Amino acid sequence: MNKFVLVTGGAGYIGSHTVIALQQQGYTPVIADDFRNANQIVLEGLRSILGNEPLLHRIDICEDQALTRLFDQYQFEGVIHFAAYKAVGESVEKPLDYYQNNLVGLINVLRHLSTHHVKNFVFSSSCTVYGEPKGEKEVSETTPKQLPESPYGYTKWMGEQIIADFHRSTPQHKLMNLRYFNPVGAHPSARIGEFPIGKPNNLLPFVTQTAIGKYPHLTIFGADYPTRDGSCIRDYIHVQDLAEAHVAALNFLINQEDGLLEAVNIGTGRGTSVLEIVAAFERVTGHSLPYIIGPRRQGDVIEIYANATKGEQLLGWKSRLNIEDALKDAWAWEQYLATL
Ligand code: UD1
Repeated sequence: MNKFVLVTGGAGYIGSHTVIALQQQGYTPVIADDFRNANQIVLEGLRSILGNEPLLHRIDICEDQALTRLFDQYQFEGVIHFAAYKAVGESVEKPLDYYQNNLVGLINVLRHLSTHHVKNFVFSSSCTVYGEPKGEKEVSETTPKQLPESPYGYTKWMGEQIIADFHRSTPQHKLMNLRYFNPVGAHPSARIGEFPIGKPNNLLPFVTQTAIGKYPHLTIFGADYPTRDGSCIRDYIHVQDLAEAHVAALNFLINQEDGLLEAVNIGTGRGTSVLEIVAAFERVTGHSLPYIIGPRRQGDVIEIYANATKGEQLLGWKSRLNIEDALKDAWAWEQYLATL
């Protein structure tokens, strides 16, 4: 019997990798995506990696009727909810779009869990809920949350709050917030990966697009921070590991008898600076990466990385791949895109 799992935003960057991991572990992923921030190329890549046509519904999950039809059609084992806007800078310019899309989408999905008796739910949260860590830069799930800097950050922060209140009112559900650190890399086949629309905001797509010649240089946003080399430090997690964390989370939830709400950090436990990323990229690909040091970017966290022990203890998951793997795979994906 098919074990259907709804993957909202399943044609996106993390969603598409998770669709593959789900199918590999015996689930039947059902993608709900309206392609406003996804690309046909990823769909073709999915087909070729999966070896079959994915179950795909081109719907906007903010539209209640479309979601109702979907929940009527399948008896889902669980829902993994990715569909959301994710650009920090854009969220400052278009806060209402971010609140509308990210919060209405979440609320709709949670309503359908209730009405259609679907118990297991995984939410795409972010380490942004920790803000700039005070003191210790390694954060665990018990590190107090702080108010975010951007509307995007607030949608994750408020998303967790909505889920907490939903849990209080309907404690039978099994709910998990996965707090991602910085997702990077691509599928080792180089057939799916990150597909930023327009100029990338995040570091890795900017690195690979600079190396391929789309931009003359990378700008490092500040090298005068109080870190080991002056540039900011993040915990970069390979998207393959991240995808597997979702399946581990779902397996865990399905095996629980009682309702629960947990938050789990999804990172490697290691911090890497922006300058270290540049050096590693050049080392791994043999390609030079021109860069300049620019001013600091407003709202940037100086240094943060995960304490990743809870993921290991609770879910039996830990990252297997390192930053070199991620850079190699991201570069192969960029090179594949250049052939299209
Ligand atoms: C941000 C969000 C994070 C969100 C992610 C999704 C915050 C504090 N962080 O992560 O919650 O999940 O976006 O998009 O809200 N950098 C450069 N040059 C560039 C681009 C980036 O030096 O051209 C540096 C940044 O200053 C930062 C690092 O690279 O130190 C990573 O930046 P980025 O990829 O944008 O991710 P975050 O800001 O960590």
